[in-house]
Formats: sequence, C-alpha cells, structure tokens
Amino acid sequence: MKRVAILISGGGSNMVALARSMTGEHPARPVLVLSNDAEAGGLTRATALGIPVAAVDHRPFRGDRAAFEAALLAPLLAARPDVICLAGFMRILTPGFTQRFAGRMLNIHPSLLPKYPGLHTHQRALDAGDDQAGCTVHEVIADLDAGPILGQARVPVLSGDDADSLAARVLVQEHRLYPAVLRRFVDGDRTPVMM
Ligand code: GRF
Repeated sequence: MKRVAILISGGGSNMVALARSMTGEHPARPVLVLSNDAEAGGLTRATALGIPVAAVDHRPFRGDRAAFEAALLAPLLAARPDVICLAGFMRILTPGFTQRFAGRMLNIHPSLLPKYPGLHTHQRALDAGDDQAGCTVHEVIADLDAGPILGQARVPVLSGDDADSLAARVLVQEHRLYPAVLRRFVDGDRTPVMM
C-alpha cells in the first residue's frame, strides 16, 4: 500500500478529493495531512476523514526557510510517505527539500503551465484575454511551478468571468484531475492525464 502525505495551507478541498479517491482497490492511502497553519480548515476536514494531521506554523521561523523545513520534516518523515502531494500549500520550498523528495512530490497549480507560474493566475489569464484556463499537476522540482507536467484540465473562459468565477470553474476540474494523476502516478505511470 503506497503511503501518501498531503500538504495544505487552507481549506483543503484538493486534499479531500485526493483522500476520497484513495479507497477500495486504489493502491494508496492518505497517511498524513500536514499544514503550515494550525488553523487551516483542511485539518478539521482531514480529521473528520480519519486521517492523522499535524501542523508546523511557519511564522516563528520567519526568514529561516531551512529551519521551518527541518521542523516540517519531523512529522512528515514519521509518516513514512512514498508520495507527497502539495495541495493548496502556499509556502515555497527550498531546493534542498524538493531534492529530498525528487520524483515523488506532486503539486497542483491553477493555470495551464507553463503559462502563469506563481500567484493570481486567474486574473492574469483574464487580463491576457485568454479564452481557455485550467489547472496543472506537475512533479515538484527546485524551480517554482516548473517540473514535468503529469496532467492538465482545461476550462473555457466565459464572458463576464471574474477571477472568482474562473477560479471556481477551475477548482471543479482540479478535484477531478489530481486524483486521476495520483492514481496513475502510484502505478509508476507518468503518462500525462489530459482533460
Ligand atoms: C486551489 O486553487 C489550488 O489550485 C491552489 O490552492 C487553491 C486552494 O486549494 N493550489 P484547496 O481548496 O486548499 O485544495
């Protein structure tokens, strides 16, 4: 059984979608939900799903990213994860951390990478007049939002869209895409999932 740790910072809707997918014949199970915010709503949702949780507040480590990551590693390594899924995790990880989990750490990003790495992806797509938007699951490497693409889902940009309406449309697809990519990934299949 593959052990999956999920890192969150907020509501954890992607974590819930991933957790709900890992049942029955699925060869993986969630073993930890870890947040950089002890108040993250996703921690309560994970507990309700029976998943062990932990939180390491990043604020006391302000400016010392490596020290924060050392603290994060303690509960993470204790869970003995085979795969790490970043799901709405809003801290940038150092190359040392990403290297440690090279080839087995995934992230979901709310744009059609390589377009719009970083923040405010939906507003940037609207400002550019794009007629499509979407989300990407990729392997995490040292460069932000830049690793090999493992899946993408596209949505139309509709007239009258604002960042919130577009984000909501994309989020529905995130919850379909990430579980589909994880299912293949745990089988060692890196064929991109295109939706
Ligand atoms: C989502 O838009 C996701 O793409 C981004 O964080 C947002 C919140 O995700 N990574 P969640 O509801 O906390 O999973």
